[in-house]
Amino acid sequence: MKIVLCGYMGAGKSLIGKKIAKKLSFHFVDLDKKIADREQLGIPEIFAEKGEIHFRKTEASLLRETLNSEENMVLALGGGTPCYGQNLQWIKDHPETILIYLKMNLQALTDRLFEERKNRPLISNVDTRDALEDFIRKHIFERRYYYLQSDYTVDCSTASPGEIVMEILAETGRAGGEDS
Ligand code: S3P
Repeated sequence: MKIVLCGYMGAGKSLIGKKIAKKLSFHFVDLDKKIADREQLGIPEIFAEKGEIHFRKTEASLLRETLNSEENMVLALGGGTPCYGQNLQWIKDHPETILIYLKMNLQALTDRLFEERKNRPLISNVDTRDALEDFIRKHIFERRYYYLQSDYTVDCSTASPGEIVMEILAETGRAGGEDS
């Protein structure tokens, strides 16, 4: 089984993904980390030196490679992964795969991302909190179409990581996970 987490930058895909994987004794895979390892560069450097198109091609090919492995896993996507090429369809058509949207409201995302924007090439040059809020509002509007095709949506705006994990485990029929 593969539990795949999508959602906007800063929604907590990696943190939540690691916790679920630990509960279930599943392998945790962070797609951004896999891309960085393959390219031997950080994500900002890939964007700066090789360009976003190269990043998206690598992302698509590593997504396919990862889904094709036999293992049980929790896979944290990048914020843009389901929104490019055939990635979303590929995930949805893949057997024994559940796609979960970690949804977070604009306020919470802006608060979190304003502090953490330097490592995120799409927003690293946004100077003010208001400008960032504006950018995120428009960007999520474009991306919601893809995120909302997930099998299940979890509202993460106010819930604690523990509550989010429990909700996902219940939804995937894994409540009372192997080491809980
Ligand atoms: C991106 C999100 C990032 C990373 C890249 C592009 C996006 O991942 O893949 O900077 O298009 O939203 P996180 O969502 O893990 O920050």
